[in-house]
Amino acid sequence: MDTMNKNLIRLLAGACFLIALFVFSSCSNNDSEPAGPAIPIEDQTLKNAPYPVGAAVNITSLKNSEKYRETVIHEMSSLTAENAMKMNFLSKGRGEYFWDDADYLVDFAQQNGMRVHGHTLVWYKHTPSWVSEFSGDKEEWKAILKEYIQDVVGRYKGRIASWDVVNEIVMDDGTLRDCIWLQKIGPEYIELSFRYAHEADPDAVLFYNDYGHEWSFNRRLFVNHLVDSLRTKEVPLHGIGLQMHTNTNRSLLDLRYAVTSAAISKVKVHVSELDVSVNPDKKDITFTDDLAQKQSQVYKEIAKVMKDIPKELQYGITCWGVHDTGSWLSPNPDWALLFDGDFERKAAYRGFIEGFQ
Ligand code: G3I
Repeated sequence: MDTMNKNLIRLLAGACFLIALFVFSSCSNNDSEPAGPAIPIEDQTLKNAPYPVGAAVNITSLKNSEKYRETVIHEMSSLTAENAMKMNFLSKGRGEYFWDDADYLVDFAQQNGMRVHGHTLVWYKHTPSWVSEFSGDKEEWKAILKEYIQDVVGRYKGRIASWDVVNEIVMDDGTLRDCIWLQKIGPEYIELSFRYAHEADPDAVLFYNDYGHEWSFNRRLFVNHLVDSLRTKEVPLHGIGLQMHTNTNRSLLDLRYAVTSAAISKVKVHVSELDVSVNPDKKDITFTDDLAQKQSQVYKEIAKVMKDIPKELQYGITCWGVHDTGSWLSPNPDWALLFDGDFERKAAYRGFIEGFQ
């Protein structure tokens, strides 16, 4: 059978699975299901979701802001370091590390009974200068990649539950993104990264993490093919991370489709960096009730679709930040998260709760 026919069969199989998933999810959306008494919103916490809900955290805020820390402790069941585990934050030279912030986060999570998701081992951004300046043959490049991954994953073995092993390797046209590891090792760096991480902690859940599933057919297709082909080669890859930096202009169906499409590969699905911008065009606007309601609907839909995919695939939802003013989007006026600048729950919070209830 030629490659084109094989691809066609794969596409048809995928489409059948997707239809089945849609039928399944619309059945499980049936409002006549006995839901049990709803908990009043003031007694709610995100911890009541049927899957882990968490946030990306900033270590300085965690250390210095009581309200930030209290909100995290009260609401979150899973934490990701927004920046503290990126390569140039951790790696200061070959075999030299700055562990303080990452250690602080892992200890904090452990003390408060939360899961930690590691972000991110291999990314085209944040390459430390000692790596960019490294010279060696392909085997030596593999050796430094392996050392780095295994030093980091090994340090937190049994304490960090999961990792974004490889982040953002696809371009919008569906080709591989250029990065130093691709240049020096070739595409094999992708599967090697997963194998190295798995050797260092065989129990860690390993993710491929990327953005754009909700707006790009090419990107979705690439990720499903990547994941399926790596798993066929028995590469230890266990999940797809959907970043989902989205906004109130996106259709709810696109968002639902992104999650259900990832589930086609029958691996765990993590909405890993959720935020919902109300000001994607970066205009000089105010946060009106109308925008707050639209945003609430988006959060509701995402909370709901995570519940609608098969239970064993629900890795959870991580918001990319805790409160609006701490968001990476905040230098432009935006209100993208569940809590406002004073850590008060927004309409978005209520929507999220309604989505998972
Ligand atoms: O900590 C240094 C500080 O010492 C230095 O003085 C200052 C000068 O620029 O930089 C500080 O680091 C910045 C860091 O945020 C912490 O504030 C980096 O320059 C800046 O690039 C970094 O931005 C982060 C960005 O990723 C790039 O790593 C954002 O906070 C973070 O929210 C964002 O998160 C990414 C995910 O990792 C991957 N997916 C997309 C997502 C949003 O862009």
